[in-house]
Amino acid sequence: MSHSMPPEDLATPRPASRPGPGEEALAEDTAQTAPHAPRTTAEKLAHLRALRQRSLEGGGAARLQQQHARGKLSARERLDLLLDPGIFQEIDALALSRATAFGLDQERYLGDGVVTGYGRIDGRLVYVFAQDFTVLGGSLSEAHGAKICKVMDLALKTGAPLIGINDSGGARIQEGVVSLGAYAEVFLRNTLASGVIPQLSVILGPCAGGAVYSPAITDFIFMVRGISHMFVTGPDVVRTVTHEEVTFEELGGADVHAERSGVAHFVADSEVEALAQVRRLLSYLPSNNVDPPPRLPCTDPPDRQDPRLNTIIPDDPTRPYDMHALVRMVVDDGELLEVQAGFAANLLTAFARLNGRPVGIVAQVPSVLAGVLDIDASVKGARFVRFCDCFNIPLVTFVDVPGFLPGVAQEHGGIIRHGAKLLYAYCEATVPKLTVITRKAYGGAYDVMSSKHIRGDANFAWPTAEIAVMGAEGAVNIIFRDEIARAPDPIARRRELAAAYEAQFANPYEAAARGYLDAVIEPAETRPRLIAALEAVHTKRDNNPPKKHGNIPL
Ligand code: HXC
Repeated sequence: MSHSMPPEDLATPRPASRPGPGEEALAEDTAQTAPHAPRTTAEKLAHLRALRQRSLEGGGAARLQQQHARGKLSARERLDLLLDPGIFQEIDALALSRATAFGLDQERYLGDGVVTGYGRIDGRLVYVFAQDFTVLGGSLSEAHGAKICKVMDLALKTGAPLIGINDSGGARIQEGVVSLGAYAEVFLRNTLASGVIPQLSVILGPCAGGAVYSPAITDFIFMVRGISHMFVTGPDVVRTVTHEEVTFEELGGADVHAERSGVAHFVADSEVEALAQVRRLLSYLPSNNVDPPPRLPCTDPPDRQDPRLNTIIPDDPTRPYDMHALVRMVVDDGELLEVQAGFAANLLTAFARLNGRPVGIVAQVPSVLAGVLDIDASVKGARFVRFCDCFNIPLVTFVDVPGFLPGVAQEHGGIIRHGAKLLYAYCEATVPKLTVITRKAYGGAYDVMSSKHIRGDANFAWPTAEIAVMGAEGAVNIIFRDEIARAPDPIARRRELAAAYEAQFANPYEAAARGYLDAVIEPAETRPRLIAALEAVHTKRDNNPPKKHGNIPL
């Protein structure tokens, strides 16, 4: 049996063989088709129950079976997994499309292809929408878009996170410009809500064309291997325009966006895992930009020292070490929720807790490209820093950076403007900023990485820190070029001069003497020192000059 509701009457119960009506018919037909209308209270109740049941069925059993055969869950199954059990409150379950062109008058479904409402995650209010692919491919119509906008408005007004589950063929093609307008209404709200409430996008199916720009404006994108696909133009258009042969997965699958494009922040092997990731991420986030981030009871002693940190830095400054392990030794229970783990792996960005308080971790990873700052790492770091700053999440930065990556590709790719994003993000951030220089802090990258000069609140260094304009070899080659050239043994002279430069600058004490560092600490005591600093500055208030908005170098 078809689950669509052709031009009949919502208010009129229908025999099993007769399909139901459209929304605009409701008012008219309620009055006009009295013979079919429920008369008694019991009939009216039964009618409502039937409508609600029909709405729950979406595109019907056959389409649901197809959805499952594709290895995908239904919109409602997804919401069941996402939300605390039993308390989802649906809104607009009886909404219907008003469109009639191209046979749409014969294709009406209660709810119009998206389930919207509110529920709780770990007891905290969230607004949600989940597109239902069983109804016209989850395509976005005027009514479907209006439903999404309604929950967005409620989320913004009440200061609650918005979670969107995307599974859609995009704009409902039969509705033409009306569906484009509906998308634009969503984009506008995404933009206005940005920085006010966390917005999370879970891609659990296709997300194509301009539709990708709603998730792209939101704060975090979750994708599932083999299930999620995002692209502006699909494989067919790509083949026509550029003659490239590419599959859905190769063009816009989860791994591509998690590792190459940087579009996805979290990737999972199943929908169940992705939805659990959403719940976990929310545990670090406040509900809005004025609430404090949620503090959890901490069982990891705040004064815990870790002697392993005293030996983690190799004697040879060119050798890498495990920054992830280092950070885990410092934070509560060794727990990190890494963001964009597969993209620009030379920079680690993650959520963690210190004494139960959520913090955003930014750290160089010396085992990948020596921890250098390149275009991708700068953009990744900038977006993360800005997110944390929007939502009052203190930043803890671990610095081991040899500088910005040299090279024609980087220069021509715009490392100047992209590197500036990270600098700008740190400069404008007014959340508490704690910094630990573990080893190298060279050149402009020293300034960028949450230095004292750009409003670092607590700046620590380990005795292994090297803080200088550049490496010793490069430095003496420039400032002693003539002297080295004239020396009887230029190589020996260069080595001597480099050793002297290193003795002067390859340590934290010049910076400490000037107050650029607040303390040089033993690595083992990093956790208690950071926690003490965080407890001292978590009430910090700082402001930027009043302005409409800054002009970050995009
Ligand atoms: C109306 C749509 C639809 C759409 C899918 N359907 N997309 N109906 N508008 N945009 C319908 C199909 O006709 C089909 O109905 C049902 O949904 C399931 O689709 P299938 O094609 O059978 O599913 P599948 O093979 O899994 O392919 C999914 C798909 C494909 C890759 C998403 O449907 C597709 O390419 N759709 C069109 C995508 C697209 O070009 N959208 C517009 C993009 S532009 P029946 O009844 O036959 O089963 C856009 C602009 C955004 O979105 C505007 C923002 C500025």
